[in-house]
Amino acid sequence: MDVVILKDGPAVCKEASRRIADQVNRKADSVLGLATGNTMVGVYKDLVRRHREAELDCSEVTTFNLDEYVGLAPEHPCSYHTYMNEHLFSKVPFFRNLIPDSSETNFVQMCADYEAQIQGCGGIDLQLLGLGRDGHIGFNEPCSSLSSRTRLKTLTPMTVGTNKRHFPEGQPVPYHVITMGIATIMEAREVLLLAFGESKVDAIAAMVEGPVSAMCPASALQYHPHCTVLIDEVAASKLKMADYFRFIHQNWLEG
Ligand code: F6R
Repeated sequence: MDVVILKDGPAVCKEASRRIADQVNRKADSVLGLATGNTMVGVYKDLVRRHREAELDCSEVTTFNLDEYVGLAPEHPCSYHTYMNEHLFSKVPFFRNLIPDSSETNFVQMCADYEAQIQGCGGIDLQLLGLGRDGHIGFNEPCSSLSSRTRLKTLTPMTVGTNKRHFPEGQPVPYHVITMGIATIMEAREVLLLAFGESKVDAIAAMVEGPVSAMCPASALQYHPHCTVLIDEVAASKLKMADYFRFIHQNWLEG
């Protein structure tokens, strides 16, 4: 794991956007794995800026989103389809954008098809991830199988509570989702996980320095051969190896 400690949230988002743009500039028909949530808002804003300033052309890029709520139509204002359209897809043209279709009734078939579509595109080149307070990636909650594939999952009450802020007062928050599995995520050739702020301090410590355990699904990334963790000073505050991570980047040697 390459842990990069940056000043604050905006610096984390800018660095992620720079790395995504580098990937697309290196390989025009890249396959990107995308995430939603507060963490990604600044990343997509900066990608839109790059596109407007002609620094980024995504017209050959295919994207696969990590997850979608079950029970919300794609056009629902709180669906992840809507989130992606608002923040990115309506502003930057892509070749193809895929998001799990939770309006399908045969979830098992739909999830198998989603996995097959990822394989059919040659696999994901760069997977973007946020981090849940409980260590989830995608919506692989604690005790998810570390070899799981795209499937139906039930959110923990804590995650439902956290997601509530995105829903109008009084509107029920779905507690079922379709999510890529941990094995699906682990097959991406490169992973970029972002986290910043006080609420991510414990999850970052567990993921980076704790044991590999289904209790912290993100800890599986310790086995990934090319995983970069972009965090701010606050999120890094419980890392015992923080000074070493800074030392590595002060003395960076391209391998
Ligand atoms: C969303 C997703 C989740 C979020 C995580 C962090 O597509 O897969 O794992 O990345 O819940 O959410 P925020 O960024 O809102 O703190």
